[in-house]
Amino acid sequence: MASSIMSNHCFFIVAFFLLSVTAAYGQLSENFYAGTCPALDGIIQREVSRALSAEKRMGASLLRLFFHDCFVQGCDASILLDDVPETLFIGEKTASPNVNSVRGYDVIDNIKAAVEANCSGVVSCADVIALATRQAVVQLGGPTWTLLLGRRDSTTASKAQAESDLPGPRFNLTGLIGAFGKKGLTPNELVALSGAHTIGKARCAFADDGQEGRAGCPPLPLPLLQLSSDMTALDLQTPEAFDNKYYENLVKKKGLLHSDNVLVTDSTLNSLVKKYGTKPGIFASDFAAAMERLSKIGVLTGGNGQIRFDCKKVN
Ligand code: HEM
Repeated sequence: MASSIMSNHCFFIVAFFLLSVTAAYGQLSENFYAGTCPALDGIIQREVSRALSAEKRMGASLLRLFFHDCFVQGCDASILLDDVPETLFIGEKTASPNVNSVRGYDVIDNIKAAVEANCSGVVSCADVIALATRQAVVQLGGPTWTLLLGRRDSTTASKAQAESDLPGPRFNLTGLIGAFGKKGLTPNELVALSGAHTIGKARCAFADDGQEGRAGCPPLPLPLLQLSSDMTALDLQTPEAFDNKYYENLVKKKGLLHSDNVLVTDSTLNSLVKKYGTKPGIFASDFAAAMERLSKIGVLTGGNGQIRFDCKKVN
């Protein structure tokens, strides 16, 4: 009797210990929601299809939103938090790289609402962004990658870090390598991830002066009023297809942004650009591997953070 009480006691101590260790040091896993939200993959697929059939460019916008989330505090959906003037909370949406530029917040909100309707309080906004991004890339013809899940949502955001850590279109190569290095990404991964500019648009105001890549923009000098509104494709050849044409453009010095064109100025990176331009399969697998790494930056797991009900505000 005494020994059975003792062993029960030990069982509970061990179980409690294991639970708290898992909660504190939780890890991402591929089938994290298999038991708690089995319909998740289907919802993501349906909602992303709906968004892309309304506007193909939304795939590009989701991919960029994910990048801008992961580079600031990690992939924790901090980018989705609205400013709350009453509490003086300031989010990242008004940070200079994001304001009037990052799109897709409403699409993420719609997907999250559809997920909540099916399994409430279970799936994080951070995982919704990561899953929607992968689905969008696949639907535009790009590769898929292993996506580990179980990210949790931040209760904080950092406008200051969005302004300091996100690379700008006029960065030189040293600046780009530094910004990626700060997040644990290599120069080769910078080249692979820049391939995201095979889809989507940028404002002509950001185009590399004097380069042929700005062919889709009005001739210089731009009238002042056009500065903010004119946009052109980052990849003029196939703006809505996730392919390797971006690198073909770079080889011909036809990248749109200065930060695209500087990738060929280093001989090692230039040979990678050339390889990606001629071997689409290698680009696809390197991009996928780099996205896997991007999606693990600074994640909150276990007992950290929360599962927001509404992605725009903390619970
Ligand atoms: C290497 C440093 C990078 C710089 C300097 C940069 C800069 C920019 C700029 C300035 C724009 C246009 C914004 C506007 O006109 O409002 C843009 C668009 C875009 N960026 Fe980047 N970017 C970089 C890397 C990345 C990465 C790593 C990804 C994703 C993995 C990415 C995905 C995109 C996409 C898809 C668009 C088009 C978005 C849309 O059409 O809504 N970029 N980027």
